[in-house]
Amino acid sequence: MAEKISFEPPRGMRDFYPEDMVWRNKVFDAFRAAGEAAGFEPYDACVVESYELLARKAGEEVGEQIYHFNDKSDRHLALRAEMTPTLARMVAQRQKELSFPIKWTTIAQCFRYERMTKGRKREHYQWNLDIIGEDSVLAEVEVLGAACDALRRMGLSSADFKVHVSSRKFLGELLAASGIAAAKHAQVFLALDKRGKMPDGEIAAMLRDGGLDEREVEAAFAIMETESYAGCPELVELFALAETAGFADCLKFDIAVIRGLSYYTGIVFECFDTQGQFRAIFGGGRYDNLLTTIGGEPTGAVGLGFGDVVVTELLKARFGESSAKAKRGVAVGFMDIGQRAAAVKLAAKLRARGERVDLALKAQKPKKFFSRADAGGAAKAVFIGPDDIAAGKARIKDMENRTETEICL
Ligand code: HAM
Repeated sequence: MAEKISFEPPRGMRDFYPEDMVWRNKVFDAFRAAGEAAGFEPYDACVVESYELLARKAGEEVGEQIYHFNDKSDRHLALRAEMTPTLARMVAQRQKELSFPIKWTTIAQCFRYERMTKGRKREHYQWNLDIIGEDSVLAEVEVLGAACDALRRMGLSSADFKVHVSSRKFLGELLAASGIAAAKHAQVFLALDKRGKMPDGEIAAMLRDGGLDEREVEAAFAIMETESYAGCPELVELFALAETAGFADCLKFDIAVIRGLSYYTGIVFECFDTQGQFRAIFGGGRYDNLLTTIGGEPTGAVGLGFGDVVVTELLKARFGESSAKAKRGVAVGFMDIGQRAAAVKLAAKLRARGERVDLALKAQKPKKFFSRADAGGAAKAVFIGPDDIAAGKARIKDMENRTETEICL
């Protein structure tokens, strides 16, 4: 006998049973609708990339989490861990033809060999929104507004989430004003980004490794207490425009947001639930140099990645596990084979009208049919018996309020 293999997917990978797809579709529908409403154009790309494009500087977690392999021709390939390098490659390839700014969106499956924690899987879908070829802070505002709109479409409000916004440029200026040389900033960003995830003592050690002396380490920690963004004109503009656009209540300034990816150059942001129960809902920022690092022309860019895992956990906690499933469509059943043709005909008629029809595949007792229709989430159900054929009509039952109306066969 063949050896039984495990029925579980590989650790960290996910199966989507129909009840999981109900949630996934709800979340994806909100992503697509918000992207469309904000005028973003959909794109897509291959999941496999050259390892060289994705691999990055030491110290970045994402670089270390890449699934990679050599194919049969010994090409060093990798599964994408995020969409941004692929997007940069696609834009660089057509840089001469594209008319900037471009606003592109996609829902991309990404793979990261992560330590498995709540909200972190080894595979996730990430909605990406990017505006490329625009230096104005309105680009940040448009991207953020669309992400907040998606959350609203899922039924959440500013009481449930806040987008924490800061600027790496501003933080860099504050560090420079304290005498910390710009050459050390990349290392300082990586260390300070670990605040809250790592004891301060270890962060101080990372800062010393980055070449900071004791006074500078102290200054770096003091800067993390900054509460006003008045010294950063881009942030002042961003908050003012968000006010005008009507979603400033979803935002708050937070100097501690730095982001773990090294390519961000200006405004950065990360969204969290207000209860502080979950990991980041989405994150992004301005990355003006990414195209040049892969050989493209200098181009201002801003974007975000919004995963499906955390937001689904948040929605389930907020509204209940079964809240995504809405009753819909019509179940059509029949008592015995003599009514089968009539059931098939009725299903065809209803489908032609645009109804979703779940046609029973064999004869059933009425009790069994109605309980299956209920469990299947039908909004209405029609059961055809011999008397109905004689009368030329049957009763269609509303599964919610149990009322009945007649329908011609
Ligand atoms: P990121 O912060 O690495 O940014 O990921 C963005 C979002 O993807 C996270 O906030 C989270 O919702 C989700 N996510 C990331 N890793 C996992 C995981 N292992 N399991 C579940 N969800 C996850 C980026 O990837 C940037 N490329 C975003 C970006 C686009 N920046 C500019 N354009």
